[in-house]
Amino acid sequence: MFTIQSNYQLKEETEALIIGLFNESKPLKGVIKEIDDALDGAIRDLMRDGDIKKGYKEISSVHTFHKIGAKRLYFVGLGKREKLTFMKARDAFGALVKQVNRARLEQMTVLFDTFMVEELSVYDLARALGEACSLASYQLIDYKQKENRPDAMLRHVSVFFNNEEVALKEGLEVGYTFGEGTNFTRSLVNRPGNLLTPTDLAAEAVELAKQYGMEYEVLEKEDMERLGMGGILAVNQGSDQPPKMIVLKYRGKEKWEDVLSFVGKGITFDAGGISLKPAKGMEEMKSDMGGAASVLGAMKIIGELKPDVNVLAVIPSTENLINGSALKPGDVITALSGKTIEVKNTDAEGRLILADGVAYAKQLGADYIVDIATLTGAVMVALGDVATGAITNNETFFETFLEAAVDAGEYVWRLPAFEPYYDLLKTSDMADLNNSPGRLAGSITAGLFIGAHIENTPWIHLDIAGTAYGSKASDLGPKGATGAMVRTLAILAEQFKK
Ligand code: BES
Ligand code: MN
Ligand code: ZN
Repeated sequence: MFTIQSNYQLKEETEALIIGLFNESKPLKGVIKEIDDALDGAIRDLMRDGDIKKGYKEISSVHTFHKIGAKRLYFVGLGKREKLTFMKARDAFGALVKQVNRARLEQMTVLFDTFMVEELSVYDLARALGEACSLASYQLIDYKQKENRPDAMLRHVSVFFNNEEVALKEGLEVGYTFGEGTNFTRSLVNRPGNLLTPTDLAAEAVELAKQYGMEYEVLEKEDMERLGMGGILAVNQGSDQPPKMIVLKYRGKEKWEDVLSFVGKGITFDAGGISLKPAKGMEEMKSDMGGAASVLGAMKIIGELKPDVNVLAVIPSTENLINGSALKPGDVITALSGKTIEVKNTDAEGRLILADGVAYAKQLGADYIVDIATLTGAVMVALGDVATGAITNNETFFETFLEAAVDAGEYVWRLPAFEPYYDLLKTSDMADLNNSPGRLAGSITAGLFIGAHIENTPWIHLDIAGTAYGSKASDLGPKGATGAMVRTLAILAEQFKK
């Protein structure tokens, strides 16, 4: 994808020469001045007349009429110089890459120096570009007989830079790898429920494990019965598809210690069960395995980058449907942790399967647990599609996690876990826990329900119901699956090496 060169010359041939433009009125200098001279002052005139724009994320393309080797110039508006962050640079590159793909160009040449600012390292700026090249080229896989969308064309990016070649190369490669891991997640999440059953999800996970030489294990229904996984079994009752408890182990250390564990919700379709969801928009519930897919995307990145940490992935997976044997409101079940649960609402199924997921992760030696799930509609009310909601029982672990989220350029916001919220879970006359205590603090009680099966192991819960699946396109991809938290989880693992 990338080649790195130095000493850009005007005769360099390219379909698109990419130039970063900050919102400042300095006289043109350096390469831009040379290009302007070659074009008889056209750049200066176009800037003066507002045909080349400097506002953040404004992209202006200008034909050179073959006066230099580049056929076109693409100016990427970057806004105020002091405001450029990793996130903003990545999104601006994303807007550019989308436009370049729309123009069906296969190649572009980036003048990297024109994007440099003091506050951003070469590595991070390169990572922003690498990530954007992958993410903004992502295309939805559809099942139409006739291809009516142009393929993303961008295949080759030349980057000119006269400095720190190692940091540039590493940043581009790491960024691209992160993008590809995220796109892998997106493709799983976008897959329809009939084409991605728990069996299919397990097959995908096993293939990934084999590809990267990870250990794996897939528990079948009989194993779950033997072990006492009452949560996932209860949800699975209403489905004709067999449930799977999928386990991947990445060993980056000699001993299986300091194990970081990711537990992802793998509901391949959530109709709600007997507490049936309304028909409108229900098709989006094919995305209810978003947590599982994010875990797999992160494992893919980890498999590529091979950090020296131990990572355990656990994915409980089943459909949540209705048949004559389906779980009923009022049923009392026993989770793997031994705790009993009164199922007040069969649509609060994510927490039931995750209760077993986290308890099983503990049995397999998890020292730190992050669970991730499209868990509640309530988190969308609270945080919209902007930020992922989080809950934790451990300040230090959460600090480390937040640093990873900042580095990854993903928004996370923590919800409180005060004692009285726990009391809401203990409102069943019949069992230890109530799986659906009501609308108040819905995202918090859902998260704490999972935590109740973990006790003291450092734990972070991530609710991606608002962030995993978008109803509109962004600079980094089309509408549909976003691959939320994939990059954060991967960076968390990388930085875990202590
Ligand atoms: N999968 C849903 C949550 C969800 C909603 C994800 C919208 C993405 C978009 C989850 O299983 C669910 O149904 N949650 C219920 C819980 C309630 C019954 C306590 C909800 O949020 O309404
Ligand atoms: Mn549900
Ligand atoms: Zn669900």
